[in-house]
Amino acid sequence: MAENKALPRNVGIIMDGNGRWAKRRLLPRSAGHDAGMKRIIKLVKHVRQTGIKYLTLYALSTENLARPKEELEGLYSLFRMYFEKYAPQLTAENSAVSVIGDLSALPQDVAEKMRTACARSPQNPDFTLVFAVNYGSRAEIVRAANFAAELGGNMTEQSFAKLLYTADIPDPDLIIRTGGELRLSNFLLWQSAYAELYFTDVLFPDFTAQRFDKAIEEFSRRSRRFGKV
Ligand code: FPP
Repeated sequence: MAENKALPRNVGIIMDGNGRWAKRRLLPRSAGHDAGMKRIIKLVKHVRQTGIKYLTLYALSTENLARPKEELEGLYSLFRMYFEKYAPQLTAENSAVSVIGDLSALPQDVAEKMRTACARSPQNPDFTLVFAVNYGSRAEIVRAANFAAELGGNMTEQSFAKLLYTADIPDPDLIIRTGGELRLSNFLLWQSAYAELYFTDVLFPDFTAQRFDKAIEEFSRRSRRFGKV
């Protein structure tokens, strides 16, 4: 990747297209999610080397919880494997792992594995991987509004942001969506107020490090004015 260009601090990825990737190969949807997890492992390795400090992956939306039980069970098995095997490798190498979303609706052992892996995160990490799991932005904002009502008094944008799941995570500078759809699907709506958006038709299992770098190159060419002239 080209050096000395403005790097995003936090990149969010809406990992769409696993199901279609599998369908094109006449495989079950679960094979698409397996390929998606393999892609995550490769991408994380790559992103850590770029100097980007945060990667936020939309792993399961609140709406995804309505998918057939069989598909969800497959995803939960992948979460188990990732948080048991791969997350500890990251935390051992001074990266942090974090989860945003409502873990209470997940199988207890999955939620527990996630909490355990996150608790092992170092204090001053070089890199932070954030998974959005059973995450929905509107629910997150309503939850924060309820906290705010309990606290009473006037909120500022800064104090309200501290009530979101992402209190300790910088806003995304760039959001990438794979799989060809042109929408945010309830992902980081508050946080992405000034994010650059990048859409690609490439299905997530095919979203290689080179394709990621292409998105970063395009980001570095965008003119970010934050509403100013
Ligand atoms: C959307 O594609 C993707 C998901 C709902 C799940 C994303 C999960 C992974 C990439 C692997 C999970 C593993 C870990 C460790 C987080 P889709 O199935 O909706 O694709 P489609 O639009 O082609 O049907």
